Amino acid sequence: MAFRENTNDIIEGIIDKKVDGKKSKIPAQLDFYQSLTGIILAIFIKFHLLFVSSILISKDFMYSVDKFLSGSFLVKGGDPAFVAGAAFFIFVVLVVHALLAVRKFPNSYRQYRNFKSHTMMYPHNDTKLWGVQIITGFILFFFASMHLYQMMSEPSNIGPYLSSDRIWTDNAWVMYIILLLAVELHATIGLYRLAIKWGWFQGKTYKATREKLKLVRNGIIIFYLVLGTLSLAAYMKIGYEHQNNYGERYIPTHKVVGS
Ligand code: HEM
Repeated sequence: MAFRENTNDIIEGIIDKKVDGKKSKIPAQLDFYQSLTGIILAIFIKFHLLFVSSILISKDFMYSVDKFLSGSFLVKGGDPAFVAGAAFFIFVVLVVHALLAVRKFPNSYRQYRNFKSHTMMYPHNDTKLWGVQIITGFILFFFASMHLYQMMSEPSNIGPYLSSDRIWTDNAWVMYIILLLAVELHATIGLYRLAIKWGWFQGKTYKATREKLKLVRNGIIIFYLVLGTLSLAAYMKIGYEHQNNYGERYIPTHKVVGS
């Protein structure tokens, strides 16, 4: 039985069809799960960058956003386990997404050469975007993992001062600039490609839909890159001013006034 199954697999490997002449459904299923995990990650990152930008309003506001995301609505004062749990969940989704995506990486000189000649023959911007996805996706393997590991291992070290100390004194800004650029391009281009692939937001003509989606895509990228850079600059400024008191926790105004 096992021998027969193995022989069937070998035949499918050669002719790219099952013995009964049908195509396997597995590649389409893998594609679906790649899209699903991609959407979860892309939506997460859009909200995440908004939450991080709370520092642009005030330290107190960033403090309360952190407390809320640490589950203060369920447990008094919040619990860092919520942050660690969320980071673990995102990490698992990221690993599954990366595993499914790695199938599409050009993994030999022959495939790379074919991609290059194809791009030159059809110099279509959307083909080039696939190259951007490969490069940014590769960067994210490393940088997103580093960041998530830090969030899983030190979930209580988040706040207006602790985050700023990490960004300024511990030089995490270098990692965040690379991460911000890579994740923003990857997530938004990914959503754009999904919208084209699955035919979401169809307008009158295919061309008109594409042009509209391109405008929205570029607008979203610019908005988040500007917001992310401004937030990072705000954390750097606070970290710079706070460097002599590195490691001290922020005490919100209502507690200082109340005490
Ligand atoms: C649940 C998981 C996550 C948590 C708890 C988390 C938490 C944080 C926190 C607290 C900051 C502020 C800086 C600091 O304290 O060091 C930050 C910044 C940042 N995070 Fe995350 N993060 C998570 C997942 C991710 C993922 C998956 C990505 C991208 C793949 C990401 C990308 C970024 C970027 C780019 C910044 C800098 C923000 C900016 O420039 O405005 N984060 N994150």
